[in-house]
Amino acid sequence: MTHPLYDVIERRRDVRAEFSDEPLDPEVLDRLLRAAHAAPSVGNSQPWDFVLVRDAATRTAFQEHVARERAVFAASLPPDRRARFERIKVEGILESALGIVVTYDPERGGPAVLGRHAIADAGLYSACLAIQNLWLAATAEDIGVGWVSFYRKEFLADLLGIPAPVEPIAWLCVGPVSHLQETPDLVRHGWRDRRPLADAVHQDRWQG
Ligand SMILES: Cc1cc2nc3c(=O)[nH]c(=O)nc-3n(C[C@H](O)[C@H](O)[C@H](O)COP(=O)(O)O)c2cc1C
Repeated sequence: MTHPLYDVIERRRDVRAEFSDEPLDPEVLDRLLRAAHAAPSVGNSQPWDFVLVRDAATRTAFQEHVARERAVFAASLPPDRRARFERIKVEGILESALGIVVTYDPERGGPAVLGRHAIADAGLYSACLAIQNLWLAATAEDIGVGWVSFYRKEFLADLLGIPAPVEPIAWLCVGPVSHLQETPDLVRHGWRDRRPLADAVHQDRWQG
């Protein structure tokens, strides 16, 4: 029998439409944040912070901004792709119990971050691992997470008072769900399929 962790990894979904009306249990939220905060990070810099957004006016302002950015993206598409995109929901900002904005601080642990001298992005990679930890922990708790990236960083930083050089890297819609879809939304809607693992694995050298 495989370890139950593999089942959690398989069940994890990006959630947009399945958020229920229930609130998020504070003890569950605490466990999710602890899981995120336990992530590995370059030089142990722990460059993440979490802004918990409950305020209705703030969430509405962000949702309206995301709707505008959705329209910008739609306008960039050829007609057949645009028609397909119109059927796809890209956020559950107002339907989810909570917004968690994850930020990245490039100065945390500096000026000499062990392991980041040659790869500046290693700091960002670390913050993304915190998000993945939270996402998998949420799945194990039957809590949905939806990553929203249809926004301009300056807008969200301004909305939440995030000081430069700290930057918001994700708005996560988090909350109880009716269920998790078995198939990713973008696959169900014929936007883009999952790639076979065999295509992603290379032996010894890159094979195109
Ligand atoms: C960096 C990142 C940004 C994303 N941004 C959005 C987004 O703005 N809106 C959305 O609906 N999904 C977003 N997603 C979710 C992806 O569409 C989703 O992970 C992918 O389609 C695979 O589906 P699954 O997560 O259910 O397996 C994002 C995911 C990642 C990792």
